[in-house]
Amino acid sequence: MKVPIHLAIILDGNGRWALKNGFIRSIGHKYGANALKEIVSYSFELGVKYLSLYCFSTENWKRDKNEIDYLFSLISQYLNKYCNDFINKKIKVIFSGDLSILPNETKLACDMVSLKSKNCDKFILNICLNYGSKNEIIRATTNIAKDVKNGLLNEMDIDENTFEKYLYSNGLPNVDFLIRTSNEKRLSNFMLWQISYAEIYFCKTLWPEFTKKDLEKAFVEYGKRNRRYGGV
Ligand code: IPE
Ligand code: IPE
Ligand code: MG
Repeated sequence: MKVPIHLAIILDGNGRWALKNGFIRSIGHKYGANALKEIVSYSFELGVKYLSLYCFSTENWKRDKNEIDYLFSLISQYLNKYCNDFINKKIKVIFSGDLSILPNETKLACDMVSLKSKNCDKFILNICLNYGSKNEIIRATTNIAKDVKNGLLNEMDIDENTFEKYLYSNGLPNVDFLIRTSNEKRLSNFMLWQISYAEIYFCKTLWPEFTKKDLEKAFVEYGKRNRRYGGV
C-alpha cells in the first residue's frame, strides 16, 4: 500500500454523528477523540511521517460557548492523557494556530506536550488549533515585512522556500494527501498553501465512525492517483 509522507485530515461530522445517535453535539467530539486516537496510531504504524489534524478553526468561535468549552477541555484531557505515549513512541507534537487566546488549561497542555516531545523525531503530529490558513498567510507576510524592514531579510530572497519558513508548518514538507470526512467537499480555510499539490479525498463517513479500514481504503485510492505536478 502506498502511504503519503504528509497526511492531513479535516475531521468533520462529529456534531451530525451525535445528533444522529440521539446525543448532544459535544458527545460527538468525545467519540471523535476516540476515533482520532486510533487513526493517529495507525497512521504511525503504516509509515506516515507527518500528520496534520484540523481540530479547531478560526471560524469555529462562532459556535455555542458550551460546545467550545467542552471541545477545549477535551483537547486538554487528550494531550495530558497521551503525552507519555507520544514520547514513548518518539512522536513530536507541534501546534499550528494562535494558541494565545485558548483557555489557559488548554494552552498549558499544548505547551507541556510541545516541550516534552521536542526532541522526538519518528513522527510529527501537527495539531491545528485556532488555525486558519488566511490568518497564517497574513501572519507570515507581516513577519516577512518586519524582517525586511529590520534588515534581517533581503526582499530579493523572498521565494517559496523562504515564505514557507514563516508559516506555522515550517519544517514540514507539503501535504501529500488530504482526507475530509462527512461528505463536505470544501477546504474550510485549511492549509491552503500546503495542499497546493495534495491529492484530495472526500468520504461520506462521519468522523467518529472513521476506522482503520477507512484509512486503508483512502490510502488504496491515494496509490491510484497519478501525481504529475504539471508535467506529463
Ligand atoms: C468536526 O465536527 C469537529 C470540529 C469542527 C471541531 P463538527 O463539529 O464540525 O461536526 P458537524 O460538521 O457539525 O457534523
Ligand atoms: C472545519 O470543519 C474545521 C474543523 C474540522 C476543525 P467545520 O465543520 O468547522 O467547517 P464548515 O463550517 O463545515 O465549513
Ligand atoms: Mg463540521
